[in-house]
Amino acid sequence: MADMTEAMNRDTYKNILDVVKELMKGTTIDDMIRRLNTSVRASLPDTVVFAALWDKYEEELEMFPSGRSTEKKAMESLFKHFFKKGEQRFTGKIKEKELGNITDFFKNHYIFYDMVRLEKGIRGAVVGIHTTKEYLERTVLTSDIILPHFWSIFSDRYKNMITGKESEMLWKIKDAQSDISDNYLNNIELNKLLENLLELALRKTGQKCGCILILNEKTGELEFEPRAVKGKALSIIPDKLPRDHKSLAGIVLGTNMPYNCRDTSKDPNYFPLFQRIRSSLVVPIEFQHRPIGVIAIESETKNRFKEKETSTIMSLAKEAAMFIRRAQLFKESSEKGAAIMIIGQSKKWKDVEKRIEKASGTDATVILRGESGTGKELLAHAIHFNSPRKNAPFVTINCAAIPSELLESELFGHVKGAFTGAFYNKTGEFEKAEGGTVFLDEIGDLPPLLQVKILRTLQSGEVKPVGSNKMAKKVNVRVIAATSRNLEKMLGTGEFRMDIYYRLHVVPIKVPPLREYPEDIPVLIENFISESNRIFNTAIKGIDKPALKALMDYHFPGNVRQLRNFIQQAAIMSDNEIIVLNDLPDEIKLNSSTIAYNGMSSVPATYSGSYHSEKERVLEIFTRQYFSKLLDKTGSNIMQTAKTAGISRVALYKILNRYKIEHRDV
Ligand SMILES: Nc1ncnc2c1ncn2[C@@H]1O[C@H](COP(=O)(O)OP(=O)(O)OP(=O)(O)O)[C@@H](O)[C@H]1O
Ligand SMILES: [Mg+2]
Repeated sequence: MADMTEAMNRDTYKNILDVVKELMKGTTIDDMIRRLNTSVRASLPDTVVFAALWDKYEEELEMFPSGRSTEKKAMESLFKHFFKKGEQRFTGKIKEKELGNITDFFKNHYIFYDMVRLEKGIRGAVVGIHTTKEYLERTVLTSDIILPHFWSIFSDRYKNMITGKESEMLWKIKDAQSDISDNYLNNIELNKLLENLLELALRKTGQKCGCILILNEKTGELEFEPRAVKGKALSIIPDKLPRDHKSLAGIVLGTNMPYNCRDTSKDPNYFPLFQRIRSSLVVPIEFQHRPIGVIAIESETKNRFKEKETSTIMSLAKEAAMFIRRAQLFKESSEKGAAIMIIGQSKKWKDVEKRIEKASGTDATVILRGESGTGKELLAHAIHFNSPRKNAPFVTINCAAIPSELLESELFGHVKGAFTGAFYNKTGEFEKAEGGTVFLDEIGDLPPLLQVKILRTLQSGEVKPVGSNKMAKKVNVRVIAATSRNLEKMLGTGEFRMDIYYRLHVVPIKVPPLREYPEDIPVLIENFISESNRIFNTAIKGIDKPALKALMDYHFPGNVRQLRNFIQQAAIMSDNEIIVLNDLPDEIKLNSSTIAYNGMSSVPATYSGSYHSEKERVLEIFTRQYFSKLLDKTGSNIMQTAKTAGISRVALYKILNRYKIEHRDV
C-alpha cells in the first residue's frame, strides 16, 4: 500500500484526470475507446485497449473500436473466453493450457481485464494488452481510480446506444449510404430482409423481443418467418396463425391499425408467445392501403409503448413495405423458375416504384417508356404481381419478335381454315390471359393495321379470332404496354396511330436510364454478384474500388442490362474473389478515369500484343482520357478544346470520331 501511494504521485493523478476528461468527450462507446487508446499510448506505448459488449442470451459480441485491426480476431476470442467463464477481473499472462481456447497471439502479452454487468444479460468489458510487465503493473495501479469513471461513462454511452441510434453492430453501413434503413432493408431474400427489419424495429425501440408475421394472400393465414422471431419463446413457435385466430396480430390485420396492448394480463385478445411479456405493440405493414403483414414488439414492462414507439414502428413498416413486396415477388418468381429481382434505392428509382404501386392497384392501362435495358419488363411483372389479378395469368406478347402476318392470330386466335395452314382452332393470347394481364412488349413495333385491331380490343374489351364470323368474345384482361421507341416521332411519320397512342397513355410511366441514377450502381452490383454466385456457382465476394469507380463513371447506353452482363462476365472470368478493373470489358477500362494519364503505372499491365499494338492501346487510353477531361472542362466547347490542346478543329474532330469520344457540339 505504501508503494502504491508513493508511486501515485501528482503527475500520475494529473494523467488520470486527463484521461477521464478525454473519455468524457467521446460521444459513443466507439469514440470513447478510440480516445482512450490515444491517451494510453502517450504514456504506455505498445498498449492496445479494446472494449466489448456481450449479450449473454444471444452470445453476441460487439467490439470497440469497431472496424478492422490486426488484433481483432484474437481479441474476440479473448473476450468470449472471459465472458463465458464469467471472469470479473484478470491480470497477468494467459496460462499455457488455456491458450488453446484463445490463440497464440497472447502468449507474449500481459493482460488487464475488467468486466461489469450493464443490465440483465448484458455485460461490458475492457481489456488492455501490454508488451511488458511494467506497463501492466502501471495499469493495475491506476485502475482503481480510473475504472469507476470509465464504467460510468461507458454505461451512459451504452444507454444512449440502445435507446437511440448508435449501435455499431447495426449501423456499420452508415458511412456507405445516408439512408441507413434503406440499406438495411434492401435485401432481396425475404427471410433475411424480415430478420433485418425485426432487428431494426427492436433497436429503434430498445427492445429484445418481437416477431414479424406475413399475410399469405391465398390462405389468409399469418405466417411466421423463423428468422424474424426474437425472444424467449414459451414453447415452440407455430409456423402460422390460422385466419380467424384470436390475437393482436389478427385484429391489426382486420383493422389495418396499430394496436398498443398496455397490459397483456388484462387483454383477452393477447396470445402469448414469449415469456414474461407485459406489454405488446403490433403495427400493420401497409401496402396499397391494405396490410400485408404485421410487426410485433413486446416488452417485459407494463405500458412500455407510447406514441413515440408507435410512430417509429409505423414509419419503419411503411418504408419496409416496398422491399417486402420485391422480396415476395423474387421468392414466388424464383419458385416458378424465372427469378424477378428488382433492386434500387435511389429517389429516382423509388419514385418509379411508387407509381407502379399506385398503378397496380387499378385496372388502368399502363405504358412503360424507357431506353432498352432499363427494366420495363421487370416492372410489368411487378405491376401484375401487385394487382388483384396476381393469381391469374400474365401473358407476354413481344410485338417485335412475331412476324406481322402471324401476330393477329397470335393475339386473337383463329378458327380452323381461316388461312392456309390453319388446321385447328387456336386460342389467342388475349383469351389465354383471361382474368389476368396482357403485356404488349415493344408496342412501337406493332404494324399500323394491328394497331387498329388492338385499339378495338382495348376499347370494347372484346376479341375476334381471325376468320371467325361469330360475335366477338368478351375478355377480361388488363393491358400493360412497353416500348423503347420514340412514339412521338412515329406519330409524325404516321408509323404510330394517334388514337392508340392516347388509348395506351392512361398511366404512362417513364423508366429512367441508369446514368440518371448512378448512386444505385453499387447496390445493383452487389446483388448481381450474389445472383452470379447463385446461378453460376461463382464465389465472388465483391468489387474493388477502381473497378467500382470505373463502372460508376460509365454512361451505360445498355442500362441495367449492360451492367448485369458486365458483372456476370466478370464473375465468371475473374481469377480472384474480388472483381478488379481488368475483369471488366475494354469499353469500361478505356473509359476509366482511374487509369491515370499522369503516369503509366496503372495502365492495365497485360501487355500481350506486339509493341506497336500495345502502344496504340495505351495511346488510345491516354487520348480518350485527355479529351474527355478537357471537354468536360471546356463544357464541350470545340474551339476552346482545340485551342487548349494545341491542335486544329479538324484534327480534334478526327480524334473524337476515331475514338468515338462522346461530345456535344457547342
Ligand atoms: N431495377 C433493377 N433491378 C435489378 N435488375 C434490373 C433492374 N432493371 C433492370 N434490370 C435487369 O436488366 C435487364 C433488362 O431488364 P428488362 O428486360 O426489364 O429491360 P427492358 O426495359 O424491358 O429492356 P428492352 O427495352 O431492351 O426490352 C434484366 O436482366 C433485368 O433483370
Ligand atoms: Mg423488354
